[in-house]
Amino acid sequence: MDIQIVDWLSLVFRWAHIVAGIGWIGASFYFMALDFSLRQREGLPPGVKGEDWSVHGGGFYHIQKYTVAPEKMPEDLRWFQWESYATWLTGFALMSVVYYWQADIYLIDRSVLALSTPQAVAASLAVLITSWLVYDMLCKSPLKENQIAMFAVLFVLIVGAAVGLGEVFSARAVFLHIGAMIGTIMTGNVFFVIIPNQKIVVADLKQGKIPNPEFGKIAKLRSTHNNYLTLPVLFLMISNHYPMTFGHPMNWIVIALILPIGAIVRHYFNAHDSGEHGMAIRWQWPTAAVLLLILMAFVAWRPTAQTSKTATPPQKEDPPDALTLQAFEIVKTRCAICHSSTPTDFVGVAPGGVEYDTIELMRQHAPQIRAQAILSNAMPPGNLTEITERERAVLDEWLDIELQNAP
Ligand code: HEC
Repeated sequence: MDIQIVDWLSLVFRWAHIVAGIGWIGASFYFMALDFSLRQREGLPPGVKGEDWSVHGGGFYHIQKYTVAPEKMPEDLRWFQWESYATWLTGFALMSVVYYWQADIYLIDRSVLALSTPQAVAASLAVLITSWLVYDMLCKSPLKENQIAMFAVLFVLIVGAAVGLGEVFSARAVFLHIGAMIGTIMTGNVFFVIIPNQKIVVADLKQGKIPNPEFGKIAKLRSTHNNYLTLPVLFLMISNHYPMTFGHPMNWIVIALILPIGAIVRHYFNAHDSGEHGMAIRWQWPTAAVLLLILMAFVAWRPTAQTSKTATPPQKEDPPDALTLQAFEIVKTRCAICHSSTPTDFVGVAPGGVEYDTIELMRQHAPQIRAQAILSNAMPPGNLTEITERERAVLDEWLDIELQNAP
């Protein structure tokens, strides 16, 4: 029963999180595109930076942007903030259900650091809060005058955080936390800076005062950061279903590559929307593709994949059958407490429908065993069943033969 509640909560929060995220990112993409598409012409009203014509849904839209504010407060003003807050709130709810409620499985890895659940949750919350405080401080420091330097410092801090968190949480949780950190910064920008600044401007207008353009400028800086961070965050949020990424022994390099890849692709859209031509919009996709290929090559190279060569697997000369039996023994003790038609512990039904009750079933799932337990240490989660390196080596040995003989 318990497992069903967890699963339902996780499904519903995930659903809501995706819906809210689409709303937020969709609005953000739209307004960024709009900003870049603004064109100037003679005869625009005073205070208007530019205008844009677009066509959608059977009609034409004519939009003008006042960079600071119009002279008079419009009567009906639409705000865009709840998309962002809802994305953060549903994301935090989802994270609580998956990573806090089931901390033993997802958040804690005892072979990394033997935290208790309260310790791990406290560490996780501290990471989110600290990342906002540090980022906010940077934005108020002299760095704010230099976009490139600011992005460089952010990059180093994010990759450094990935290295540091690797000493605290499970590999999977590291990726999720880097994503959640960036997501928190992005929502923090909306909640603590962009909207409050906008409210000051509106209040000034209502009092008939001329608003200070500085508020709009600060908001724009934060909004630009959000723009470039969007694509990397999305990658980090979905990658925790792909052990080849987070499960790499140097997974921080994956993050170091994803940050520029996402930002470069985003830059293409920004440049394109600004009406740039030629090389200005031709370098981004090829560069991103080359970086992605480098990432794939890096992931294929695994310093620890050689465990089977270094550890001497016992009974090397045995016929595959004995090895299979040995592998099955390991899978039965280390995996089948969860992955079975009658799971004994932790889970109500076999996760992902993966059951290892018989040798046949084990054979069927052989490639996934390699992905989850050899190429990465994603399984057993948090190494709850304490599989040993030697046992992994035996499984690897068996997989070598098994997958070669596979039809
Ligand atoms: C403590 C319980 C537990 C143990 C022990 C365990 N797993 Fe898992 N396994 C899970 C959970 C939970 C998931 C779902 C993870 C997710 O949501 O991606 C999972 C997912 C998987 C999947 C992916 C299923 C899919 O959806 O594609 C494979 C394959 C897998 N485990 C193999 C193994 C192997 C091999 C072992 C032993 C070395 C093992 N597991 C040990 C709990 C366990």
